[in-house]
Amino acid sequence: MSVMISTWRMSYIGMVKARRNYGLNHDLDQALAALIHDVENDPRFHSVGMGGLPNQQGIIQCDASYMNGTTLAYGACGAVENVVSPFDLAYLLSKEYRFNNFLVGQGAYDYANDHGLTIGSLMDYATWKQYTDRSNQDMAALKAYDGHDTVCACMVDDQGHCVVGTSTSGLFMKHPGRLGDTPCIGCGFYADDQIGAAAATGMGEAICKGVLSHAVLQRIAQGEEPMHAASTLVAEFTEILKSRYGKTDAISLIVVDKQGRYGVGTNVDFAFVLSVDDQPVRTYVALADPHGCTIHMDDGQINVD
Ligand code: GLY
Repeated sequence: MSVMISTWRMSYIGMVKARRNYGLNHDLDQALAALIHDVENDPRFHSVGMGGLPNQQGIIQCDASYMNGTTLAYGACGAVENVVSPFDLAYLLSKEYRFNNFLVGQGAYDYANDHGLTIGSLMDYATWKQYTDRSNQDMAALKAYDGHDTVCACMVDDQGHCVVGTSTSGLFMKHPGRLGDTPCIGCGFYADDQIGAAAATGMGEAICKGVLSHAVLQRIAQGEEPMHAASTLVAEFTEILKSRYGKTDAISLIVVDKQGRYGVGTNVDFAFVLSVDDQPVRTYVALADPHGCTIHMDDGQINVD
């Protein structure tokens, strides 16, 4: 069975392209790139790539990752500016063997430039206007989903090979240099062909405290069914954060195991996109409940066959 799962409705068209791409050549890396590029390149999605959310200085700093479940090779970049596809940079860094798999800031930019990746401004008029309109607002009132959504995709093919990729511009008005979960291995992403692939979206600082992408795969390795593992992990970890802080931030988790069984965990209403073999790509909504979450067909879906 080949299965793709990705975060938020914005990944729907990308998943359709990924499915077609995968159907053409059965290359999961190309399918993953097709999905993530579609979101990175679309300035209407103000949280990833082109037109992303700026930091306190009005600068767009992006984070991204890639991991291959067969080799455990991973690449990641953080707080990188003016690289049109941060995912491509992460993918390229995964090809480094022993060192230099995770680069940030100027070093990440230099690596991308030296290796011929497309360089250019990610800022557009709408993003700049959003920055100037909102730059006087109360920072304490910002919530994780104030336009702050990471594109994440987990894929497994019919041989049990798994890959995962992520890309985001991170939290709106973040401090320059801030990294969330997205480029941090085990937190925002993980893949291991012996188990599956997982990724997270939401408030990076909360996700990192639980190293949630690795944690959910460990539960599956111990025999839990993916939906149960993801939904109970997020529900339980939310309670842990509440017990320490009196509140928690938004956390959502997607996972697919090596057999193609998928799982979702969330503590907020969360839309995700799913494709199983050559069935139509569909969007769903996961609704949080105290013991896990429930999955519903998405009323706002734009499914095509
Ligand atoms: N989950 C993305 C971030 O916190 O930056």
